[in-house]
Amino acid sequence: MKSLFSSHIEQKKLGLKPAIHQELKRTILKLPEMDTLGVKWSKKNYPNGYTSYGSLSNLDQQFSVFSELKRLLDREASKFVKAIGIEFPRGDLVLSSLWANVMPKHCYHAFHLHPNSIVSGTYYVSVPKGTSPLRIEDPRAPLFMACPARSIQKDLIAKEGEIILFESWMKHEVPPHSSSDLRVSVSFNYDWIQS
Ligand code: NI
Repeated sequence: MKSLFSSHIEQKKLGLKPAIHQELKRTILKLPEMDTLGVKWSKKNYPNGYTSYGSLSNLDQQFSVFSELKRLLDREASKFVKAIGIEFPRGDLVLSSLWANVMPKHCYHAFHLHPNSIVSGTYYVSVPKGTSPLRIEDPRAPLFMACPARSIQKDLIAKEGEIILFESWMKHEVPPHSSSDLRVSVSFNYDWIQS
């Protein structure tokens, strides 16, 4: 039997130094104090939690502690596209956004995708016990039509210090976070910049 048109997910330890990981966490937890715009944006778009997506979405350019994270992510994103056979006839794969997410209890992020990007993913900074997974949806789901019911969702739980990478058209969500400890992560998009 052959398997054709497979979807690819990478989940692995990133290898960020523990001291940088801790510094990253401290920086992220302080962001809401200085990011009034982001707090306002999150109230509307990120129920009960904080994300810098709508305000500080290039954290690698704004805080030096994110630059080592970017260096390692660049390497992994590049390895990922090579491994799955994506080639760029011109231009390159470039980090276009990098933002932080802080989820308290009951916070969630409904199903979505990242239409302008090639590779998306998350670095897991704080993963409390019993936290909600990253849930992905089978991209073939709208095409099953008369097929008997089958599972179209898979849950991935990352450990602290790990990344999950996927192609940006893959629908994903974070269901309501059920722990009273904060779930902290950094998400990112890589785009094909053609010039
Ligand atoms: Ni996303």
